[in-house]
Amino acid sequence: MQVTVVGSGYVGLVASACLAELGQQVICVDSDRAKIDALQRGETPIHERFLPELLARHCGTRLKFTSSLADAVKSSSVIFVAVGTPSTESGDCDLSAVEAVARELSRSVNEYKLVVQKSTVPVCTSEWVRRIMVLNGAPETSFEIASNPEFLREGTAVTDFLYPDRIVVGVNSKRAASLLRDIYRPLTNGSYVRQKNAIPEPDEARIPTRLIETGARSAELIKHASNAFLAMKISFINAVANICEAVDADIEQVCAGIGADARIGDRFLSPGIGYGGSCFPKDLKAFRAIARESGYDFRLLDEVIRINEEQCRHFLRKVRNALWTLKGKRLAVLGLAFKGGTDDVRESPAIAMIELLLREGCEVAAYDPAAMPKCREWLQERVIFAESAYDAAESADAILLLSDWEEFAALDLQRLRRALKYPIVIDGRNLYDREMMAQRGFMYYSVGRPDAFPRESPEHVSQLKKAS
Ligand code: UDX
Repeated sequence: MQVTVVGSGYVGLVASACLAELGQQVICVDSDRAKIDALQRGETPIHERFLPELLARHCGTRLKFTSSLADAVKSSSVIFVAVGTPSTESGDCDLSAVEAVARELSRSVNEYKLVVQKSTVPVCTSEWVRRIMVLNGAPETSFEIASNPEFLREGTAVTDFLYPDRIVVGVNSKRAASLLRDIYRPLTNGSYVRQKNAIPEPDEARIPTRLIETGARSAELIKHASNAFLAMKISFINAVANICEAVDADIEQVCAGIGADARIGDRFLSPGIGYGGSCFPKDLKAFRAIARESGYDFRLLDEVIRINEEQCRHFLRKVRNALWTLKGKRLAVLGLAFKGGTDDVRESPAIAMIELLLREGCEVAAYDPAAMPKCREWLQERVIFAESAYDAAESADAILLLSDWEEFAALDLQRLRRALKYPIVIDGRNLYDREMMAQRGFMYYSVGRPDAFPRESPEHVSQLKKAS
């Protein structure tokens, strides 16, 4: 099948590469000429595991790039729309890019087209898109609109696409349902994973994938409700972690206990400095706005957002508790990305944390395995960018761990300790075992767990350090 994907951002590019991997002929369109040129040259604009392999495998054969929507649409029966839907000042979804694509599509409809919304959009967007297309001259019977929300996470986007927990298709006709079922068949019949050179399935992959067919409005709601629920889970566990700290309990043990209940589940229960990224903060605000417009005051979401915003300030109090005064202290910050495995710093709690530290008068030496180029320009003057975690730790008063990179969990702790001025680690992602950190001579602070100290007094540690 020939399909078009409009938009070459995270969702659009990953969807294009993965649809090609599933055997479709894909044309990926973006109005940004420079981006298309770079993709045609074989460059991968985002840090995403397996994406370079898929682009190399399919570019020029099953996957083509263009900036002409009209040309792409003419030869495609299915058009996936994956353009950006950023937040407005008031938290609403800015749907102007979706509307612009709808207008342009209406001019290119030459025979039956299925227009599939993949962008995260408010409920009823499908109906608006249909209206705009008709108003702009597309014959009413020549196209249909469907919703096929994408649940991929940055860092694992390719495997999330190829091995999803479920595929949701929101359709209003059998024809639309059948087209989308055909596209996803290699996943729903389990044949993709058996293919030679298939991208390896992750642990816990549900094969074959379940396809859930709903109405378009329900599919649109599923996307916002899923993200809101996941964010609520994180804020909930962060609130419980704060209580653990107050009563000297251990959030890890609490999570093991509650996560064992199959109705709750143990995923998305990691406490930390809060959620960030391009989706949760934006989607929660948008969902709150949608609820308000539909006459429901969704105050639970206000609280999820408030707890998340408070989490960085709570962590700052922890830093102060570990270091006493902050002015003039040199801190090694490990992690800038909103989570490990990505170079994305949008709404990153690590960046919010750095801003708070700079306001307190701290000197920050930062290191991130992938995200430094993305923030060099605007943090350049105020933050020292280090070559490695060890480089950042050199003569620092403490290490702050702010993104959960696997690389950080595997650092040479003795080397870090030798580099530091004081053996203090304040871990916003609970990457290390407390006992082990104490044994290695660190004063170790984490989220929702009791602080851990070396058996020796801090003075003794200091002597040890000087001697080593
Ligand atoms: C999210 C959704 O998971 C995905 O389904 C949707 O399509 C897009 O938004 P993403 O933003 O890539 O994906 O990241 P995710 O892995 O969900 O993490 C979001 C944030 O929550 C990160 O800042 C992460 O560090 C934080 N998080 C996640 C926690 O603090 N604790 C957890 O247990 C899980």
